[in-house]
Amino acid sequence: MSDSNTDKVESGPESEDACSPQVMVQAEGVWKVFGRNPERILTPRYRDVPKKDLQRRTGCVIALRDVSFAVKSGELFVIMGLSGSGKSTMIRTLLRLVEPTAGALRVADKDVVAMDHEELIQFRRDKVSMVFQNYGLLPHYTVLENAAYGLKLRGNHKEEREARAIEALKTVGLAGWENYYPASLSGGMQQRVGLARALAKDPAILLMDEPFSGLDPLIRRQMQDELVDLQAELGKTIVFVTHDLHEALKLGDRIAIMRDGRVVQVADPEEILNNPHDEYVKAFTRDASPARVFTAATVMEDPEILLYRRQGPLTARTMMEHQRCEWSFVVDRKKRYLGVATRDVIERLAKEKKHILNEEDLLYVQPVPPDTVIEDLFGQVSSGSYHVPVTDEHGRLLGVVRPRAILNALSTEDADA
Ligand SMILES: Nc1ncnc2c1ncn2[C@@H]1O[C@H](COP(=O)(O)OP(=O)(O)OP(=O)(O)O)[C@@H](O)[C@H]1O
Ligand SMILES: [Mg+2]
Repeated sequence: MSDSNTDKVESGPESEDACSPQVMVQAEGVWKVFGRNPERILTPRYRDVPKKDLQRRTGCVIALRDVSFAVKSGELFVIMGLSGSGKSTMIRTLLRLVEPTAGALRVADKDVVAMDHEELIQFRRDKVSMVFQNYGLLPHYTVLENAAYGLKLRGNHKEEREARAIEALKTVGLAGWENYYPASLSGGMQQRVGLARALAKDPAILLMDEPFSGLDPLIRRQMQDELVDLQAELGKTIVFVTHDLHEALKLGDRIAIMRDGRVVQVADPEEILNNPHDEYVKAFTRDASPARVFTAATVMEDPEILLYRRQGPLTARTMMEHQRCEWSFVVDRKKRYLGVATRDVIERLAKEKKHILNEEDLLYVQPVPPDTVIEDLFGQVSSGSYHVPVTDEHGRLLGVVRPRAILNALSTEDADA
C-alpha cells in the first residue's frame, strides 16, 4: 500500500538508539472489510455507517475500522473487546494472515504491507511467532519435535533446532517431557509446548490470540503468572488478545479496547479503570474488583512529616510536637527509607544527647513496592500501628499508604457501581 507511510514510524538512524523506546508494531489507519468491493466502504458514503447497517445495506462485514496503535519494544500490549469486535482480525493482519483493505503496517521495522510473497514467508518464519488458543500442536510429533517445528521450517540443522527447543521447553517448565506426544499432556502443558515452539524461534515479536482461554481457571492464572515472569526475563514484545478484563489488567502494560472494529481506547490498566473512555469501556471495567486492580501507587500520599537521619532528636521532637505526630518515617540524605522513629525513641535519644537518628534506634516497618495491589496490603494496613511505606527499586520513599486512602479507593468504586 502507500509507500509514503513506510518512513513514518522512525525518523532516522538514531531511532535504533536504546534511549528512545523503539516502536515494534505500528498500525496506521488499518481497515479490513470482508465482502465484495471492500474498497467502496472507505468512501465518504459508507465510511461512518455503523457496522450492522453497513452489513444490511452492502453485505459487507467490517472487521477493522481505521485502527491505529503503536507497540513499543518490550511491551506487553493487550487487545481486548467483545466477541466479533475485531481482535483476531487485527492480530492476524499483523502477519497478513488477513490482508488489510487499507492502511499501513510496520512490524519489527518492516513494511508488512509492501512485502511480496517470499518476503512475507521469511518474515513469518524469522521475525514473529504466533500462539493460538487451540495450541496447534502436531499430534504425531513428539513434544521436542513440536517445539522445534518453527526452526525446522526455517531450515535449521537438527542439532541446533533440538538444542534450542530443549532450552525453550526448559523455559516453560517442561524439561523431561521431550519424548512424549501431545496427547499424553494436559491442556496447560500443551499450551506450554505451543509457547516453547514460539519462543524457540527467538522472535522479535510474539503474537498470542486468546492462548489461555481453553484452560481451567487455576491453570490459567498460573500460565498468566508465568507469562509475566517470562516477559520480565526475556523482555519480548508481546501482542496478546483476550476478552477477559482481569487477564488484560494483569498482563497488559497497555490495553487497546476494541468495539465493532474500532479501537476506542488505548491506555494503561489504571487509566482504563480511572478514566474509561465511554460506557462500553465502563461496562467492561465494572466487574473488576478495585482491590485487585488499584495499587499502592494509586492510593499513596505524602507523609505528614518526614525526618532525615542527620536531623538530631531535638529538631525531630520539635517537628513532631508541631504536627502532633507520635511517630515519623526517617530517610537518609537520598530519601532512602530507614525506618520509623517514635516519640519515645526521640525522647530517649534527646536525653542521651545523640546527634543523628541511627538505624538501630528505629523500628523497621516493612516497605512495599508501588505496584503492590491493594488487596495485598489489607493485612499490613489493618494490623500495623503505622502507615505502610512505599519505596522504589532504590529504596527511596515514594509515599505512604493510610487505611483511609484504601477505604476511599474502594468506596468510590462501590458508589460508581
Ligand atoms: N473470513 C471472514 N469472513 C467474513 N467475516 C469475517 C471473517 N473473519 C472475521 N469476520 C468478521 O469480522 C468481525 C471481527 O471478527 P474477529 O474474529 O476479528 O473478532 P474477535 O474479536 O476475534 O472475536 P472473538 O472474541 O469471538 O474471537 C466479525 O464480525 C466477524 O464476523
Ligand atoms: Mg478472536
